Amino acid sequence: MAMDPLEVRNLIPLAGRYIHMNHAGVSPMSLRVAASIEQVVGAAVNRPYPAGWAHDEADRVRGLVAQLINGPSDSIALTRSTAHGISLLAQGLDWKQGDNVVGARGEYPANVYPWMAQAAKGVELRQVQPQGGRILPEQVFALVDARTRVVALSHVEFWNGFRVDIEAIGAECRRREILFAVDVMQSAGALRVDVGRMPIDFCAAGAGKWLMGPPGIGFCYCVPDLLKRLQPPIVGVCSVVGYDRYFEYDLTLAPTARRFEESVISILDTAALGAALELLLEVGLDAIEARVLSLSARLAEGLAGRGYELVEPWPRARAESSGIVSFRKPGGRAREVLRDLEAAHVVARTHQDFVRLSPNFYNTEEEIDRVLEVLAPEVAAT
Ligand SMILES: Cc1ncc(COP(=O)(O)O)c(C=O)c1O
Repeated sequence: MAMDPLEVRNLIPLAGRYIHMNHAGVSPMSLRVAASIEQVVGAAVNRPYPAGWAHDEADRVRGLVAQLINGPSDSIALTRSTAHGISLLAQGLDWKQGDNVVGARGEYPANVYPWMAQAAKGVELRQVQPQGGRILPEQVFALVDARTRVVALSHVEFWNGFRVDIEAIGAECRRREILFAVDVMQSAGALRVDVGRMPIDFCAAGAGKWLMGPPGIGFCYCVPDLLKRLQPPIVGVCSVVGYDRYFEYDLTLAPTARRFEESVISILDTAALGAALELLLEVGLDAIEARVLSLSARLAEGLAGRGYELVEPWPRARAESSGIVSFRKPGGRAREVLRDLEAAHVVARTHQDFVRLSPNFYNTEEEIDRVLEVLAPEVAAT
């Protein structure tokens, strides 16, 4: 039976002391994740290393990622970060001088620098300028031409929480035989990322945000056809077909995404990511998405109703929404708003001149209302 989303509060000690609404930044650690790390440490201290331990754990956790994104586990590699995952694609393609990539302004650097780094190979990065906070398919395809190899966007933009239309952009990319790479850092764990259904060729995320795992580990997914064409920039004992035949020195790359894992992944991080994913899967991905969207809508509408200026696009449709709500206080400074929130034990953060709140499924309606009360005491008092 699925776990009640609010039961998870009992597993997050920080939820008892803070109104934690910075899941787009770094999530609090659950007791499940902590226990998984302690278990690994306990085992490592008390017995010799069992052969294949880290490999078996990585296999298990790739399987959990596969459940998260509804894709085959052979197409999933464990990574250190989103940027690591995206770099595997950016570095691994057979670029030709004059190729280009279409991205957007406002993207997090993890989905910009790996593409900029291809400039030396004659690859140009073109960036859509969001309009009214939106990145629309027609703007993307206005920059696409015959030399476009990749469209690289975030599922959810980290600054304003706008959710791009993955289906429309991905379908058009498929029609034009352009790769669609998606940074799912601000969606995976909060909103459904379903590579079985969505036209995504490659996606990547780190664990420290909505997955509620530790920062320092992540995953990438690569559609099987593309996988075989990507040359890993880093290779080692685990990259090859015969990874247990050390003395053959046969650099035949694994046909699976294991070609991207040059050696063992930190077993502490792997176990922690596994525990984090198990918790999300126990609650249920659809239930999580429904709560994230309903809490962020309550927050955004509450802020708008109290005269705060929502960072565009606003108003926004449910399909454009996410767990992120960014806003400005008219005539006020973001730092001051953050200070008021922090004084009330609300965990938030600022970017540029706005404040960003990002509630997760285990936050409560009462916590949202409390945040609104802190932000507009005079309104709450009437
Ligand atoms: C959209 C997005 N992508 C990626 C990241 C993090 O990138 P990395 O995992 O490479 O540190 C963030 C962090 O804020 C983000 O918002």
